[in-house]
Amino acid sequence: MKKIAEDVFYVGVNDRVSPLFENYIPIPEGVSYNSYLIKDETVALVDTVEAGFAPEFFSKLDDCLGERKVDYLIVDHVEPDHSGSIVQLLMKYPKMVVVGNARTLSMLEGFYGYLENTYEVKEGDYLNLGKHVVRFYMAPMVHWPEVMFSYDETSGTLFSADAFGSFGALNGGVTDTELDVSGLYGETRRYYASIIGKYGTQVRLALKKVSPLKINMICSTHGPVWKEAIPKIMELYDGWSSYNASRGAVIAYGSMYGHTREMAEEVARGLVEAGVRSVSVYDVSHTDVSYILSDVFRYRALVVGGPTYMNGMYPYVESLLEAVAHRGIKNHIFGAFGEFSWGGVVGKTLRQFAADNGMALVGEPVECKQGLTPGLREQCRMLGKAVADALA
Ligand SMILES: Cc1cc2nc3c(=O)[nH]c(=O)nc-3n(C[C@H](O)[C@H](O)[C@H](O)COP(=O)(O)O)c2cc1C
Ligand SMILES: [Fe+2]
Ligand SMILES: [Fe+2]
Repeated sequence: MKKIAEDVFYVGVNDRVSPLFENYIPIPEGVSYNSYLIKDETVALVDTVEAGFAPEFFSKLDDCLGERKVDYLIVDHVEPDHSGSIVQLLMKYPKMVVVGNARTLSMLEGFYGYLENTYEVKEGDYLNLGKHVVRFYMAPMVHWPEVMFSYDETSGTLFSADAFGSFGALNGGVTDTELDVSGLYGETRRYYASIIGKYGTQVRLALKKVSPLKINMICSTHGPVWKEAIPKIMELYDGWSSYNASRGAVIAYGSMYGHTREMAEEVARGLVEAGVRSVSVYDVSHTDVSYILSDVFRYRALVVGGPTYMNGMYPYVESLLEAVAHRGIKNHIFGAFGEFSWGGVVGKTLRQFAADNGMALVGEPVECKQGLTPGLREQCRMLGKAVADALA
């Protein structure tokens, strides 16, 4: 339990146990499930934690509340990493009123069964806790349909569900004023790219809605509480949600026997020789797609290479392409290269990918049959240079 503003407390937990978020995305540095208490004349809890962490969560609640009870549970997001403790919570506080929009309440009943005490809210409605007045702003599809933001007008706190969230457990502190968050922005971007990146348009609508508010503190359901870094995190979200990436390139390749890898090295060399310093090279078999996607949100050029495999794309390259396509990445330029032994499809497939996804293809895909020749190496470097020129 930690006080983060007058009457506002952090009661979330760290998950340093699960290797994968959503049983899918690596979280080597863990993740936090954040929950917040507003202790006023009445007590409101904002979101809960993943069910497995309920005992730790309840001891924090007891510590913070003593004999007092939770009067309201505000549910900003129903995904079970935040609603998972609700059944146990209702056993502990049977009179607790669950606050949510119509979609929230119906989803909660679908997951957990009948809820006796509910309070349905709509856009602009508020809950008066005594001193604190909490107003509700719908944020549909950031990243689920029921998501809403709750804004405590009294303390200027925006409870933002998964928006502004980050991977990475909280190491001893909660707010960005007590933690060194400088190393955390990469994990904040990887979280955005993995979880929210598909919904840039909806993120922008939600940001616009809350932009007139005086926000002193952003309380996401994952990662640190943003206070002094609010301008920075807002600026990052503005850039990511509009797919405005910076001058740099991601080169992502698959390779079984090293030919495509060598091509990737040449493309990277060409980029750097042409003056682009921000170049990330990833072997798709070794780097989880979430890290590559994160850099796709960071850099404006994506160059993909792979061998022709069973007359199609190499499996990990294919899954990267699928992940990029799912995110609806905009404003990007695209380069392609690949290796084959008797009949190549990579050039054609990647050219089609660029066209289907609104990415401007730079030059022609470089295709290598069997061994790499000095001429092909030069073509790869020229591809790098062409991408650099297109970035200028
Ligand atoms: C399982 C398997 C399937 C392949 N399928 C094709 C194919 O359909 N067409 C082709 O031209 N080459 C095919 N190849 C040959 C690869 O293109 C060749 O192994 C090449 O060296 C792969 O590039 P790399 O050195 O970057 O791994 C296949 C290779 C393997 C191992
Ligand atoms: Fe979520
Ligand atoms: Fe979440």
